[in-house]
Amino acid sequence: MWTLDLGCTLAANLVLSVLTALTALHFCCVGGVQITALKVPETVVNGSEAAILDCEYTLKPEESKAVLTSGLVIKWFFNNGPAPVYQWIPGQKPQELGLLKGRLDLQHKASSQVAAMYRALRIVRPTTDLSGEYKCTVSTFDNEDFMIKKMIVYAPEKRLEVMQAQAEQDAVNISCRAQGLFPEPKMSLYKITDADQRIPMEGVNAETRRREEAGEGWDITATARLHDEELNTTAVIECLLSLPGTPYSRKKSMVYYPGRALAWTDSGGVGAWRAEINRLYTIIYFVHYCIVSLLLASS
Ligand SMILES: *[C@@H]1O[C@H](CO)[C@@H](O)[C@H](O)[C@H]1NC(C)=O
Ligand SMILES: *[C@@H]1O[C@H](CO)[C@@H](O)[C@H](O)[C@H]1NC(C)=O
Ligand SMILES: *[C@@H]1O[C@H](CO)[C@@H](O)[C@H](O)[C@H]1NC(C)=O
Repeated sequence: MWTLDLGCTLAANLVLSVLTALTALHFCCVGGVQITALKVPETVVNGSEAAILDCEYTLKPEESKAVLTSGLVIKWFFNNGPAPVYQWIPGQKPQELGLLKGRLDLQHKASSQVAAMYRALRIVRPTTDLSGEYKCTVSTFDNEDFMIKKMIVYAPEKRLEVMQAQAEQDAVNISCRAQGLFPEPKMSLYKITDADQRIPMEGVNAETRRREEAGEGWDITATARLHDEELNTTAVIECLLSLPGTPYSRKKSMVYYPGRALAWTDSGGVGAWRAEINRLYTIIYFVHYCIVSLLLASS
């Protein structure tokens, strides 16, 4: 029984492997046109010289021999749009369309072969609006293949600053602001301890805002409070800015000196007096409390 079962399993497995191999063979060699690599840079800096998006493919031997009559067409699509942004038929001039109109170097040759010469896109001075998914399709009369890859055109900030402002008598607002980034940025604030540890600040409020002018990206501001009890030692505050999906990040730090809060109040004039009077009241109240407690205890 046992051996019979094993025999059946083995036989079934054998049949399966043969079928799998046959299927693979079918796709590999009978299928014809096949994209072997889609080379799209994951990230590009806004306004850099150029970005090359290449689509490598192989054809059936008979298609390769008769490229001009095989119906070979290479198309590129953007963000799954219905109309191509680029099209090339071997033997004809490449065409830039829609979003990519006026954005390409049409002289760029990816290869010297007739069947592959203008398959690639060379985007000149890419801008953030060209961030998205690029799909390359290669088709002949018999077959079609496609592949999709994402590219982010990112823009570093135009300005980054860390500021402090006295919020109340016993707290200071720390804020970090960056402008003109793409895609939507992320920001966090840390306190660096004496032991060089980075501790995320509590209660950080980060807000992003898209700029009104098209293509000008995002602004971001992160704000947190430093409270009285933290204000008695020198503190290093670090602001970390990053663009998700890109290798870009930047940090800026600021040293907070204790007593600065009071120094600002000083320059504020009236505020300084109020601070001193508040302090005086606190002391008087405390002394009063002690005397009353003592009297009560002794009675
Ligand atoms: C401090 O931050 C709070 C919100 O966290 C805000 O309401 C307040 O206006 C800020 N104060 C100053 C002086 O910036
Ligand atoms: C991207 O570059 C273009 C052209 O150089 C520029 O006009 C635009 O402001 C830049 N965008 C951002 C978000 O920096
Ligand atoms: C600062 O204040 C904290 C909390 O009140 C206290 O634990 C710490 O010892 C103080 N540090 C200094 C240098 O006075």
